[in-house]
Amino acid sequence: MTGGGHVQNPYAGAQGFLNPNYVAEVKAAGASVGGTLGAKEAAVANYPTAIWLDSMAAVTGGTGYTSSLLDYLNAAKTQAASSSQPIIVTIVVYDLPDRDCAALASNGELQIANNGLQTYEHNYIDVIASDLSQPQFSNLRVSAIIEPDSLPNLVTNLNIQNCADANSSGVYVQGIQYALNKLHAIPNVYNFLDIAHSGWLGWNSNFQPFVNLATSVAKGTTAGVSSLDGFISNTANYTPTVEPYMTANQQVGGQPVRSASFFQWNTYIDEQSYDVDMRNAFIAAGFPSTIGMLIDTSRNGWGGPKRPTGPSTSTDLNTFVNATRIDQRIAKGNWCNQPGGIGARPVANPAAGFDAYVWIKPPGESDGSSSLIPTGPNNPTGKGFDRMCDPTFGGDALNNNMPTGAMANAPVSGAWFQAGFDTLVSNAYPAFP
Ligand code: BGC
Repeated sequence: MTGGGHVQNPYAGAQGFLNPNYVAEVKAAGASVGGTLGAKEAAVANYPTAIWLDSMAAVTGGTGYTSSLLDYLNAAKTQAASSSQPIIVTIVVYDLPDRDCAALASNGELQIANNGLQTYEHNYIDVIASDLSQPQFSNLRVSAIIEPDSLPNLVTNLNIQNCADANSSGVYVQGIQYALNKLHAIPNVYNFLDIAHSGWLGWNSNFQPFVNLATSVAKGTTAGVSSLDGFISNTANYTPTVEPYMTANQQVGGQPVRSASFFQWNTYIDEQSYDVDMRNAFIAAGFPSTIGMLIDTSRNGWGGPKRPTGPSTSTDLNTFVNATRIDQRIAKGNWCNQPGGIGARPVANPAAGFDAYVWIKPPGESDGSSSLIPTGPNNPTGKGFDRMCDPTFGGDALNNNMPTGAMANAPVSGAWFQAGFDTLVSNAYPAFP
């Protein structure tokens, strides 16, 4: 069925695209595990996940990629033929020069110093835009997740050389503006800009500076604030949508919950509260009240046997918070291969101001290798080694010098990690029947 034109919420009334490669991978995983867990794993194949265009070859279908963007769009057309609803394909635009400037596990292929911006614009964004604008795909809806982590890094990580360079060269800003211009010009494409997550930008010192930066980036595009349809938080992260058994400003032992060691005085203890305030701040900055928020719920469920079933009765703040929080990370800054659980299933209009909960990080794909893997068969694109993915690492300033809590024996980012998938499915919340 037709999904053409530009509607207010592209996820409403639409059916999510089922990536045939992911479906096959998940079904094979379920079959190899077998039993109850295997059956649950196979059920993950029923839910839509995003297509990560994490290199030029990911768009054209080069070495290491089973399908090109055109292959995916054709598969979506096939899905549309047997659906009474329009199909929404969610893509992740993720190839800025010196990408992932504050970490190493998802380093990209382009460099600022090596004409990266021109290559990004003409050999990456232009190719995506030309594929998406083919008339044969005009009845699909395409949601574009724009450059996870990029602008947030320009707010908090300028002490890191690669981020300072990305900032002073203007390359992140210009690359994003180029992408927004090209993609917004296609009526059935919807742009959602990444706003990191509450555990990154939730402090006052980061929050408004980020809103100001993202607003000026949007205002500098041809269509201004209209080039964005909304924003996404928690991309590939593990922060719960809601901490159900406490609030940030609740007093325990005479102190607010948010002052506990785990929250470090962050204004927000969960994503939904953060997104509501981000949305309001963007509207105050000049965005229309039609902007919609997305949350990546693919791995923020935190179910399983350790999940609390109610608030602790302790009057000691840290004891209370640690026994009450569903987020079981050692530190909130831990982002690599955490033993979380799949979260809410993708759904449109989950709450006022929210366009959808979506699965951006495909559950089962690694965040990064747990040890150094040299470029070769197990690391074809030369992904780096970030010690936040190493379970033996004691942490650094970005996670309060706490252990990383990363799972052992993980492959490079994007590669299939069966033990991680087993954990995510076992700890899913809601659980799989
Ligand atoms: C990786 C990408 C991968 C994506 C989805 C990112 O962390 O850098 O290569 O496609 O995760 O798994």
